Amino acid sequence: MLGSLLLAVSRSPLARRTVSGLRATRKVVDRFVAGESTADAVAAVRRLTGSGLTVTIDHLGEEVRDRGAAVEAAKAYVTLLDALRPLGLGDRAEVSVKLSAVGLTLDGDMALGGMALDHVGQICLAARDCGATVTLDMEDHTTVDSTLEILRALREDFPETGVAIQAYLLRSEADCRDLAGSRVRLVKGAYREPASVAYQNKAEVDRAYVRCLRVLMAGSGYPMVATHDDRLIAIAELLADRYGHGRDRYEYQMLYGIRTDRQRELAAAGHRVRVYVPFGDDWYGYFMRRLAERPANVAFFLRALKG
Ligand code: FDA
Repeated sequence: MLGSLLLAVSRSPLARRTVSGLRATRKVVDRFVAGESTADAVAAVRRLTGSGLTVTIDHLGEEVRDRGAAVEAAKAYVTLLDALRPLGLGDRAEVSVKLSAVGLTLDGDMALGGMALDHVGQICLAARDCGATVTLDMEDHTTVDSTLEILRALREDFPETGVAIQAYLLRSEADCRDLAGSRVRLVKGAYREPASVAYQNKAEVDRAYVRCLRVLMAGSGYPMVATHDDRLIAIAELLADRYGHGRDRYEYQMLYGIRTDRQRELAAAGHRVRVYVPFGDDWYGYFMRRLAERPANVAFFLRALKG
């Protein structure tokens, strides 16, 4: 309830200005975001990979309003990948891209062949030069068809490209079937969606997650189990055993700053764990979704405001 309210309020420009302008906000943002610059991101990557984790890096930003911003976003990824190349991390460091940051939602560009495809193609090329891969984040439900269409086109040249699928969408089990031979990051879903397209309560979303996970584990692809939920992590391990997916054929993923002890514990137990590392100055949308996921984060934010 509080989460839906926060997601709704977060769309207002006034809320954006107010939250972004508060000095105390920065302290809370720092918990979820690795920093603003490429150097900050590289430092976080060194630290995390040095402690046995792997990473996927997100240059923050979404729904850019003009072509110039989309070009800049693509450049930021290429600059980052150039900075990562000397570290020789290969697929221990990959990147995650929101297509709306590289032009998907600009006028007339929701169809295939537009700016977003060109931009993400440049990012895939730079990633391949480092031995890394790209995963497409999934945004609100109006972008799912175009994201999957761009994914299909990208896979002709870059078959290793992954995509996030949101278990809360009613369509996702069928999408998992279509994608079961490839790299799929399964998430619960972080946007405010209507009942016509998405399950609304936690138990239904969790059950849908398990159904999608079963489809992915039964397939020949590489499931990326992106959740902080211990029950789902345990179920993933059981399903991997049942379908003969060795530990090199799936991985766990969690967000930067969330359940860091659990990330290390899973890695120490021999699992591949990838941390989603966001960086950049356009942190507002990402930050508000993290607050909306957990009332305790709102309390933490309010305490920072008081202190
Ligand atoms: P759930 O929300 O039930 O949380 C389980 C437990 O995890 C909580 O009890 C708490 O302990 C901890 N936890 C969860 N969220 C927390 C938070 N914000 N702060 C502190 N603790 C928290 N979504 C999307 O729509 N599109 C996408 O592309 C992606 N990409 C993505 C990548 C990766 C690597 C991850 C881990 C997640 C995403 N998501 C996403 C976000 C995802 O949809 C979902 O909103 C969050 O992962 C929270 O859901 P959980 O599965 O963790 O379960």
